[in-house]
Amino acid sequence: MKRVITYGTFDLFHQGHYNIIKRARELGDYLIVGVTSESYDIERGKLNVRDSLLKRIENVRNTGFADEIIIEEYQGQKVSDIIKYNIDVLVVGSDWRGKFDYLKNYCDVQYLERTKNISSTQLRGEGTIFNIGVVTDEARDNGIVVESKYVSGLHVESVYSEDKETARLFCEKYELDSYGNDFDSFLEGLNIVYIKSSLKKRAEYIEKAIEHGKYVISDSPMTLHPDKLKELFKKAVEHNVVLVEKIMLVYLRAFNQLVWLTHGDLVGNVVSVKCAISQDDFEGGKSFNETVAHAICAIIKLLGKDCLEVNTNAVKGEDGHFVYDMITMKYPQALATIEIGTTVDVEDELVIIGSKGRITVPNDWWNTGYFEAKVEGNEFLKRFSFNFEGNGFRYLLQELMIMISDQRTECTRLFYEESEALVDILKIINQRG
Ligand code: CTP
Repeated sequence: MKRVITYGTFDLFHQGHYNIIKRARELGDYLIVGVTSESYDIERGKLNVRDSLLKRIENVRNTGFADEIIIEEYQGQKVSDIIKYNIDVLVVGSDWRGKFDYLKNYCDVQYLERTKNISSTQLRGEGTIFNIGVVTDEARDNGIVVESKYVSGLHVESVYSEDKETARLFCEKYELDSYGNDFDSFLEGLNIVYIKSSLKKRAEYIEKAIEHGKYVISDSPMTLHPDKLKELFKKAVEHNVVLVEKIMLVYLRAFNQLVWLTHGDLVGNVVSVKCAISQDDFEGGKSFNETVAHAICAIIKLLGKDCLEVNTNAVKGEDGHFVYDMITMKYPQALATIEIGTTVDVEDELVIIGSKGRITVPNDWWNTGYFEAKVEGNEFLKRFSFNFEGNGFRYLLQELMIMISDQRTECTRLFYEESEALVDILKIINQRG
């Protein structure tokens, strides 16, 4: 008996889906159809799937060609399905040509010609592409160009820099369509502006972009002035645009799971959160404020925004420059510490100590897919591991697209009030330091 398998999202079931399922069945004696789960779709960048998983399964069943329907839930499942179900042929549409050749070690792979002029994307009316412009001071990208390719509906089009030569170099290197040093004309034709220039001018660029009705992503912190930040959020709401802060942490599945589990009592009452970070390790070396902002954000997410007291213990070298700092944030029942090595190397780590155990995120905790927990009464470490692709930027971009399609201005991953609390704390640290 020849066993065939094929996969798809099968959203807004259409003739193309019917045809491929029918032809796949004709290639063998038994057909298994894998329908992608909602979370897997989001993970791989299919954000706007309309039909529920149940409805999509029902539609596949209604064709009458599937002998068995399974759910595709994670990357890498195809290999395990092929072995588990003893598959002879994997069938996919010609739009995937070459992409599944690696499975040829396990079974025959057939790419069937797609049915012309129909797709779920088309039926969803998603022809629109959102153009992104980058505001930068340097000709080095930090992933937006590559990462945006993994999120459907995005295209990085142009780059702006005060220094035209920098803009030209960036444009050439990353093969964008245009560059310039005139901010107003740069904004024309863009939907989204990503601001990665130095902190000094960020707020000014953000403000202008919002006033022109653009969605904005900005490196964090957006400003060191709490009042200014409030004003920017207010403006974003007035202009009905999204303003998100690029703190990748809050978009990562591992970190969100860590927060939920911590709030869900995994290690009992939290008494301590320790974030250690070497400035040099953070995104290839960022400023003190940018580095510390991420640690504060982690603490706010874990312990809340109502911290009672902030203290710093900066160590300076002979030349008067920061070498090391230990920042403490006091909460009613817990203490948070941020250990930051400016020129010295500290071991990057995030540790949460609770009354019943401890959670550790080893190494670069601000950018992770992994953490582990040692819980009282359990002699083994519990390990939690999540898919983490690229440098993580795509997860933020995906969330942005969801916000745009839901017509939401405030990000639920990092609320306005949390960003504001973060800048309040940062301001105190800067005054004390
Ligand atoms: N397919 C096809 N002909 C079409 C559309 C899809 O043969 N006109 C095939 C795809 O190649 C794939 C399967 O149907 O093997 C499921 O595709 P899916 O991604 O669910 O459908 P699309 O319409 O391509 O969805 P989207 O537009 O969201 O990418």
